[in-house]
Amino acid sequence: APSNDYQAEDATISQGVVESNHAGFTGTGFVNLDNVVGSYVEFTVNAATAGNATLAFRFANGTTVNRPMAIAVNGTTVNRDFPGTGAWTTWQEVTVPAALNAGANTVRATSTTANGGPNLDRLSA
Ligand code: GCU
Ligand code: CA
Ligand code: CA
Repeated sequence: APSNDYQAEDATISQGVVESNHAGFTGTGFVNLDNVVGSYVEFTVNAATAGNATLAFRFANGTTVNRPMAIAVNGTTVNRDFPGTGAWTTWQEVTVPAALNAGANTVRATSTTANGGPNLDRLSA
């Protein structure tokens, strides 16, 4: 199936701000999550039909410390590492397999440490 892009800056943000001061993002910016446990970005992912998909989170982490996140898809959570990418302008992807429902799916990425999450650019599904 074709991949659809969901910009983090257009998603629902709790404890974070939209910024554009680090180059290399897509769309109009990225989300700088607050460096606290519980800051999150929540996307609504639309699927034409039910089935397995790969969710790809595009992120940057300009520190040398991993910033793990809990990725909840329709309430089912897996944890992923978001390691340092070398610079805030260096963007990489982390993937999560997901069983999507037909129609709207809720995908929330939540910071699980006091370092917060990485900067988040986009979710591709
Ligand atoms: C810097 C950087 C931000 C980043 C923050 C962080 O302030 O400019 O984009 O979000 O560090 O450590 O989370
Ligand atoms: Ca931050
Ligand atoms: Ca973006």
